[in-house]
Amino acid sequence: MSSDAVLLLDAAGPESAALARAAVERGHQVHTSTATTDGQAAPLELAGQVVTDFARPDRAVEEITAYARRHGVGAVLTANEYLTELAALVCADLGLPGNDPRLAHAARDKAAMATVLTAVGIRIPCTWLVRDDTELHGALSDAAVGFPCVIKPVSGAGSVGVTVVTSPADAAMAADAARAARGRYGDEAKAGILVQAYAAGDEYSVESVTQDAVTTHLAVTRKVVTGGARRVETGHSLPIRLPPATEAAVRQEVDAVIRAVGIRHGASHTEVVVDADGRCTVIEIAARLGGGHIGLLLHHALGIDVFTALLDVALGRPASLTPTAHGHATVRFITSPRAGRLTSLIGFPKPGPGVPFVRWRAAIGGPVNAAGANADRLGAFVVTGRDAAEVEQRADTLARQIHVQVDTPAAARSAVDQLSSASRPAIAP
Ligand SMILES: Nc1ncnc2c1ncn2[C@@H]1O[C@H](COP(=O)(O)OP(=O)(O)OP(=O)(O)O)[C@@H](O)[C@H]1O
Ligand SMILES: [Mg+2]
Repeated sequence: MSSDAVLLLDAAGPESAALARAAVERGHQVHTSTATTDGQAAPLELAGQVVTDFARPDRAVEEITAYARRHGVGAVLTANEYLTELAALVCADLGLPGNDPRLAHAARDKAAMATVLTAVGIRIPCTWLVRDDTELHGALSDAAVGFPCVIKPVSGAGSVGVTVVTSPADAAMAADAARAARGRYGDEAKAGILVQAYAAGDEYSVESVTQDAVTTHLAVTRKVVTGGARRVETGHSLPIRLPPATEAAVRQEVDAVIRAVGIRHGASHTEVVVDADGRCTVIEIAARLGGGHIGLLLHHALGIDVFTALLDVALGRPASLTPTAHGHATVRFITSPRAGRLTSLIGFPKPGPGVPFVRWRAAIGGPVNAAGANADRLGAFVVTGRDAAEVEQRADTLARQIHVQVDTPAAARSAVDQLSSASRPAIAP
């Protein structure tokens, strides 16, 4: 058994499970800090857990650091978007490799993010923090915002409460949706909401790992996102090769973003839009590995075990980030065409050669939502192989074979819905 124990802030979700597995395989004891005692989704046999209130960060830091000292914790990590600042504070208190605790809020709070990124000359959408209707109208009438624009929570995740607004008439409802979006651990809406100019173009994310303030960009990922007012990520593909000058500019911009939000040791996921002229606008950065099975894609396409690498970074040991494979991988998410009751699922792929991972999480007979946020996704499958075009084509073919049938309650069913109630492909292009 290795001497250093590993503490995960929140152990729920596939990325946390993979981090825990990497730690156990290396002989570390794995502890977790959790907000509840219900033990939900504990990924593996845990050595112990500290229950704390994440909504009270000062107290949480004290309780977690005291626990960590008692148990010989030598690495603190999180895959949870809402806990990246807490992780930085805990690492700083314990003297472990982590991000700058004075800047860590800027990777969580998008108003602070806009301030620090603007200060170092990063191109971001014009952003207003608005606290009431007067400020909302002020932001909407700023020519640098215009329509369409985006109204979103200050520190949300998973696209909850994010609306692309095309006219002033839709702004009030979008603002209500952003205000109503609550973070996982408390009322994040108290600081106001954001109104942002809309950045048009192709959407990418850059997956990076920083160690001792030196950043390695592992891949550029293309995101497929639903159109319309509510954006839901329906696919990721990597690695994407952009035209060399564009890729160099994107990497340079992301380097600057990583520095600006104080990422020194750990993963980051930076979302950018590249317009028709190759200009890059930064939408946001998260001080964690990208969700949506991006870690799995890195493994299958590039042979990078990012979870073990992140463990090494957190322990202060040299991390191995060199690709050992040169393939391509994509994940496709399945969404429901509308809200209702899921009555059948046909054609969902099974795991096999080139399809290393499938996951279906909606119960037949249970309720489903129309795609409004990432949490509304019903399932996912990963396709991988050597050739990007072949992999994408195969994923498209598999996606077309999937049919989900959703029964809409009679009272809510419109004539149009009745006409189109036959099953149809449920995946965005
Ligand atoms: N200013 C913008 N211009 C264009 N599109 C935007 C803008 N802001 C947000 N979007 C779109 O909305 C999506 C969700 O917004 P954002 O990333 O800010 O929210 P989030 O809750 O952090 O989402 P996630 O956790 O899924 O990344 C983005 O991926 C993008 O498709
Ligand atoms: Mg985002």
